[in-house]
Amino acid sequence: MSKIIAVVGATGAQGGGLVRSILADPAAGFKVRALTRKAGGEKADALRALGAEVVEADLDDAASLEKAFAGCHGAYCVTNYWEHFKPEKELSQAASMAQAARAAKLEHVVWSTLEDTRKRVPLDDPRMPTLMGKYKVPHFDAKGEADAAFASAGVPTTYLHTSFYWENFIYFGMGPKRGTDGRFSLTLPMGESRLSGIAAEDIGKCAYGIFKQGKKWIGQRVGIAGDHVSGRQMALDMTQALGQSVGYYAVDFDTYRGFGFPGADDLGNMFQYYVEFEREFAAARSLETTRSLNPELLDFKAWLAKYGNLIPLS
Ligand SMILES: NC(=O)c1ccc[n+]([C@@H]2O[C@H](COP(=O)([O-])OP(=O)(O)OC[C@H]3O[C@@H](n4cnc5c(N)ncnc54)[C@H](OP(=O)(O)O)[C@@H]3O)[C@@H](O)[C@H]2O)c1
Repeated sequence: MSKIIAVVGATGAQGGGLVRSILADPAAGFKVRALTRKAGGEKADALRALGAEVVEADLDDAASLEKAFAGCHGAYCVTNYWEHFKPEKELSQAASMAQAARAAKLEHVVWSTLEDTRKRVPLDDPRMPTLMGKYKVPHFDAKGEADAAFASAGVPTTYLHTSFYWENFIYFGMGPKRGTDGRFSLTLPMGESRLSGIAAEDIGKCAYGIFKQGKKWIGQRVGIAGDHVSGRQMALDMTQALGQSVGYYAVDFDTYRGFGFPGADDLGNMFQYYVEFEREFAAARSLETTRSLNPELLDFKAWLAKYGNLIPLS
């Protein structure tokens, strides 16, 4: 009998990649149950057209999650900080997923998490501002703190540490911008440090690898990345791939935090964490391990060759 994987965030980047991976490999013995708040929406229709079962569930409605997880072998669990900017909401949503997983006696949960940066940068560390009273990088810290919800519920969990999506250069306004001199530059507060990044679609492919490899990953932490590349090198790679000269502007952390867009302070702290713990961050995301989960893994140049044309340059 096929093992059903309930996929939270199925209409999004991470979960969508997992749904497509499962459906593309029908002989492997997995089926997919795609969770969404809008089962009648276009994205849900597209998933159904690919062959997914689609069910309505809301991370803020524990009963809907329990129903959606019932009868499944496993679940992919992800929260979307950027929809509400509330770490406490991520914590309560993660706790609801953990409880639903326990109630459904799931055999394997993959929880999409990130480092709790406060373990290395305590709140009284003046290097970066404390945000919202108790976080350094709110969208990291809440996910890291929420790991405990899965562990304490006794859920067989793999803690998947994801990386910066290169799609941020396409959809999140982080791509090269034209300066007053008419030249494009990539602005990142990364100095000469390497940024661990990944194609968003590869996250779901890696999650699928974890479900397929099964037991060996239960209780484990695994970090994934497609490449570790400096801002300067990414600008050079963009110049080559896009046929357009792209410079690199290594802005300082405080300037970035002050850019004023929603979440600029959170992201400024995140980049500072990336820089100050570059070695540890990359070491926790082995390219070899990532490729063993997903042999189709793209490195940055391959991602540019495939998706670079979508980077807005104007
Ligand atoms: N951007 C990056 O570089 C990066 C890197 C690492 C980690 N992350 C993390 O990735 C997370 C977002 O994942 P993503 O990029 O895959 O998301 P996404 O593409 O923005 O899509 C969000 C998904 O979350 C679902 N969702 C949100 N709130 C929900 C709720 N209350 N109940 C049920 N489903 C809900 C949405 O489903 P429906 O709308 O269909 O209900 C949708 O499928 C964020 O927490 C972010 O911190 C981002």
